[in-house]
Amino acid sequence: MQLEFTEKIILPEIPNLHKISVYEENGGYQAMRKALQMQPDAVTNEVKQSNLRGRGGACFPTGLKWTFMPKQTTKPKYLCCNADESEPGTFKDRQIIEFNPHLLLEGILCAAYAMGIKSTYIYIRGEYHKWYKILQNAVDEAYAKNYVGEKIFGTEFSTDIVVHRGAGAYICGEESALMNSIEGKRGYPRIKPPFPAAFGVWGCPTTINNVETLCNVPHIINRGWEWFSKIGAPKHPGTILLGVSGHVNKPGVYEFPTGILLTDLIYEVCGGVPGNKKIKAVIPGGSSTMWLRGEELEGVRLDAESLKSVGTSIGTGGVIVMDEDTDVIKVLTTISHFYHHESCGQCTPCREGTGWMEKILHSFVREEATLEDIDLLLDVANNIEGNTICALGDAAAWPVQSVIKKFRSEFEKHVKRTTRVSSYIAPPHLVAAEV
Ligand SMILES: Cc1cc2nc3c(=O)[nH]c(=O)nc-3n(C[C@H](O)[C@H](O)[C@H](O)COP(=O)(O)O)c2cc1C
Ligand code: SF4
Repeated sequence: MQLEFTEKIILPEIPNLHKISVYEENGGYQAMRKALQMQPDAVTNEVKQSNLRGRGGACFPTGLKWTFMPKQTTKPKYLCCNADESEPGTFKDRQIIEFNPHLLLEGILCAAYAMGIKSTYIYIRGEYHKWYKILQNAVDEAYAKNYVGEKIFGTEFSTDIVVHRGAGAYICGEESALMNSIEGKRGYPRIKPPFPAAFGVWGCPTTINNVETLCNVPHIINRGWEWFSKIGAPKHPGTILLGVSGHVNKPGVYEFPTGILLTDLIYEVCGGVPGNKKIKAVIPGGSSTMWLRGEELEGVRLDAESLKSVGTSIGTGGVIVMDEDTDVIKVLTTISHFYHHESCGQCTPCREGTGWMEKILHSFVREEATLEDIDLLLDVANNIEGNTICALGDAAAWPVQSVIKKFRSEFEKHVKRTTRVSSYIAPPHLVAAEV
């Protein structure tokens, strides 16, 4: 095994780390003390040079995003920490909230100081009752010590943190829907531009960052951008939390430097596939990422650039493993049902298209579909991709496109074999091919 077992910086194995006393005994809140001695721009610069990229799905450079916030403005500025975590296959942020919530609060404080922000919302997934309580308790502990609130650490810098609970809608993880939801409006994504740094929550400059993204910041401040930029893959540095589920012997959340081999993760870390079965497919980064076939896994590394080179993406680090006995059409149908259910309905291609895709897929599951339905399904997916207000439409289209591309024969196995019930008359060559 070629794994480099470096330090776990986001989820170290320290008992009771969720308590502020234990967090401080282990060096906690030193980064914030250090940041307060620096110029705010120097904090942003440190993050920018570290090459930290967002862990919320799009891998956007964090420091660069912070520089979009206006310096001269009469409006208040906001930070929204995205803890909505609803992408199927993704369950890493809740581990952070459970085991290391003060690291997140310290990351938020550093970010707030760097961008001159006086108020932060942590938008937490509605279903995360237990984690909401843990997080709120950590915020209360930090307020009690005056690490959050007025004139923190005895300086002139004041900043507040409010935990805001969602109500169970996946779409509210999309940054502009999240801001609408905070404002008490329906969780509809906004048309961009304007982008959040110009017109965010309450119409004011806003930055949105994922939980895991912000947790890297205290380490970058403490140990410097050069240290961080040397961990893992050069263009996507740092450690990454990988939530592994599906057919592996030891599912769970694992922290490794970016660039770990997918096969090492599955076989060495997660103990391989139950019954030593072969792998049919892997979804590498949560349900909206393109699938890989079992035969394609060798040499694939888990970082943004490597996954891009094999036609998929790291997404939210949610690795879903499917063994040789998996009915991939059924899995895809479940995924499509999710996106249809979660579409906010604002734009026609997504609202209608996700429903059509689900219906067509169900007809394959019931073995009532025809061969032409494969191309019909692909056509619907192609007409959603790139034609919607937010990326939920793409997220719904990509898995369908990739499963058709990689597992066309699986669709063919589900095609109706006896008399047609559909309303069109199929060309003779297709009827012949099916019987
Ligand atoms: C439908 C949809 C759902 C999303 N859900 C989440 C989520 O639960 N958590 C998250 O951090 N980002 C989510 N995102 C991405 C956010 O819009 C945003 O890009 C991210 O929070 C930015 O953080 P980062 O730059 O730190 O990665 C979602 C995006 C879409 C399109
Ligand atoms: S793509 Fe879907 S979820 Fe996004 S705004 Fe349009 S209808 Fe709503």
